[in-house]
Amino acid sequence: MPETLQNFQVKPSASLNRPRRAHAWHERLVSGLGHLRLAGLRFFWAGLLGRRCSFGKDVRIYECVKLAVESGGNLQLGRSVALQQGVVIAVKSGARVEIQDEGYIGEYTVIASHASITIGSGVLIGPHCSVVDYNHSFRDKLRRMDPAQVESHPVVIGENAWIGAGCRILAGVHIGEGSVIGAGAVVTHDIPAFAIAVGSPAKILKYRE
Ligand SMILES: CC(C)(COP(=O)(O)OP(=O)(O)OC[C@H]1O[C@@H](n2cnc3c(N)ncnc32)[C@H](O)[C@@H]1OP(=O)(O)O)[C@@H](O)C(=O)NCCC(=O)NCCS
Repeated sequence: MPETLQNFQVKPSASLNRPRRAHAWHERLVSGLGHLRLAGLRFFWAGLLGRRCSFGKDVRIYECVKLAVESGGNLQLGRSVALQQGVVIAVKSGARVEIQDEGYIGEYTVIASHASITIGSGVLIGPHCSVVDYNHSFRDKLRRMDPAQVESHPVVIGENAWIGAGCRILAGVHIGEGSVIGAGAVVTHDIPAFAIAVGSPAKILKYRE
């Protein structure tokens, strides 16, 4: 694991899984600061140092969530954001991921940013999705693929959108407010507000009434 990446895994809120005794004082400290109830806080604080991270009130982070925020990366989780089991959020140096109030990220979804990913308030993202804002540089066919060489374009998901299970949201896409993306869609172009789009590449099926 690169030294610049600080990973931390956290347990679910106390109502679902009582934190281990050894972390009881951590619990009290955290709930006083941000209403987060997390075990493994030692790692949590280490993750915050040198990084710009903020967590709103009543954020819920479930088992095996991985927040990999590089130094110089910026992660913002708004009020009542829920990160379900196995979610991975990777924020590269200079990049920014923001999940606004009451955002819900389903199990094993991956959000990876080299630039900027903004997920609006009330957005529901189903399980096993990916939201990425970069491509690896591939134009020069003679050049060896290099994980560090990317072309990135911001992604925005408007408020109250619903992204069905297993969707792929690709670089540069803007998904409009209140739109619905059907299960398994690959979104390569912008989707207007209140559209229902399905397929690969995602096409508009109809609009919400
Ligand atoms: C997109 C969705 C909301 C559409 O629901 P709907 O308005 O009831 O649409 P319909 O079932 O009437 O389907 C209309 C057409 O779109 C097709 N279609 C529906 N969902 C599709 C999808 N995800 N991918 C491709 N085609 C789809 C249907 O086969 C149908 O085609 P046809 O007219 O040729 O038979 C729904 O199908 C869906 O994908 N929901 C996501 C479910 C999910 O991921 N749940 C996990 C919880 S987050």
